[in-house]
Amino acid sequence: MANTILVGAQWGDEGKGKIIDVLTTKADVIVRSQGGNNAGHTIVHGGKTYILHLIPSGILRRGKVCVIGNGVVVDPIALVNEIEQLRRAGLKINKNLLVSDCAHLVLPYHRALDEQRELRTGRAKIGTTKRGIGPAYADKAARTGLRVSDLMQPRLFSKKLQAKNRENNAVLRALGAKAIDHDEVNKSYLAAATKLRPFVANTVVYLHQAIERRKNLLFEGAQGTFLDIDHGTYPYVTSSNTTAGGASTGTGVPPNRIDRVVGVMKAYTTRVGEGPLPTEDRQLSDLLHSLGREFGATTGRARRCGWFDAVATRYAALVNGIDEIAITNLDGLDTVDPIRICVGYRLNGKRLGVPPCDAVQLDNCEPIYEEMPGWNQSTTSAKKLSQLPRATRDYVKRLGELTGAKVSIISVGPTRAQTIFL
Ligand code: GDP
Ligand code: IMO
Ligand code: MG
Repeated sequence: MANTILVGAQWGDEGKGKIIDVLTTKADVIVRSQGGNNAGHTIVHGGKTYILHLIPSGILRRGKVCVIGNGVVVDPIALVNEIEQLRRAGLKINKNLLVSDCAHLVLPYHRALDEQRELRTGRAKIGTTKRGIGPAYADKAARTGLRVSDLMQPRLFSKKLQAKNRENNAVLRALGAKAIDHDEVNKSYLAAATKLRPFVANTVVYLHQAIERRKNLLFEGAQGTFLDIDHGTYPYVTSSNTTAGGASTGTGVPPNRIDRVVGVMKAYTTRVGEGPLPTEDRQLSDLLHSLGREFGATTGRARRCGWFDAVATRYAALVNGIDEIAITNLDGLDTVDPIRICVGYRLNGKRLGVPPCDAVQLDNCEPIYEEMPGWNQSTTSAKKLSQLPRATRDYVKRLGELTGAKVSIISVGPTRAQTIFL
């Protein structure tokens, strides 16, 4: 399989967890390179639903090593909870998980600041997951963050935490929020440190040794292209590089060691949180929600839904260098007829083929649609392309053409078996 990056080509929640789980059969090491527990990756297997936030989705398969890379922001309490929850579900987690010593920590003041900023901006809020992700990355960029390596040195950690906590409490008080108790945080984080110590490693060296031993690496993107801090719908984005380049900086594996980029996209579009979504459609949202679909895996919020936006996915193919496409949730359109695809935007009387950089302009873009007939039957038991209705195959083909890459995987349900390889 070689070394593969898997990225979300839309606004997150494309079904990356499911596709990673499927591709893991051919991978040896599964690596997260960015984001934190704002991610929620769902895998449905053996009648159980697993939602992974920090641990790579390869953890369900035996004999695979999962790596949390240097670019991830780690909330140690959340990570310990996730490990314990998976152990309770019967999974073994010991030598199959590594956490970078260079990864930055999410601390309680990051969460409190995230919450305050969202509260205070009112209608201009971003609609974050309130996991403290933005403030943690802001500290990293400001060179004032605490890292996993600090947490592994209790005395040093306590000292650094005290100074940072004091500084942030001044800000929190000024915002009218409750101050955070140093002793409480110190105690709970050091307890988490004891549990995490066995997993902490220089993951850069580990990954390079794995490459030398000809192991196959699978990089698990979190969020999606249009939530990228540089290429997304700024400021309605997350605080990391969710696009393919982030896989290199967030792991220390250079670009010339990457062989392939797979872009995951839903057969329609969803977004959770605020910000422009040109193809948003109320009726389609209502339909998908009435089917019990499209509720957030991390926050439970109802996702906003819209038609497939080929302007967006074509741009995603460009930015990420997408070689192959995995289309998920095709079955979500089983009862929709006709089906619309956005093939261009109209802004101030002009036709655009790429999304404008400015979020207000993007919000003002009117989608130009083409329509295709629906197939009006269930696709969820199809095992091969030939078992899909003609109209479904035509739709898939069109999505590939418009995006400009080869469709290699089609997903027609949440389980492993509901996957068609082309
Ligand atoms: P991720 O963040 O990209 O991993 O995606 P999420 O797990 O947040 O959301 C995707 C949702 O779609 C989850 O509930 C998955 O179980 C589900 N899912 C993935 N692929 C399919 C599919 O082809 N059909 C259906 N019905 N559900 C799918
Ligand atoms: P996965 O990996 C969908 C969104 C939030 C908000 C914005 C910023 O499951 O696809 P943050 O908490 O990161 O500061 O929030 O980004 N967001 C996601 N949306 N899927 C995700 O992850 C997301 N992670 C963050 O809703 O709009
Ligand atoms: Mg998700």
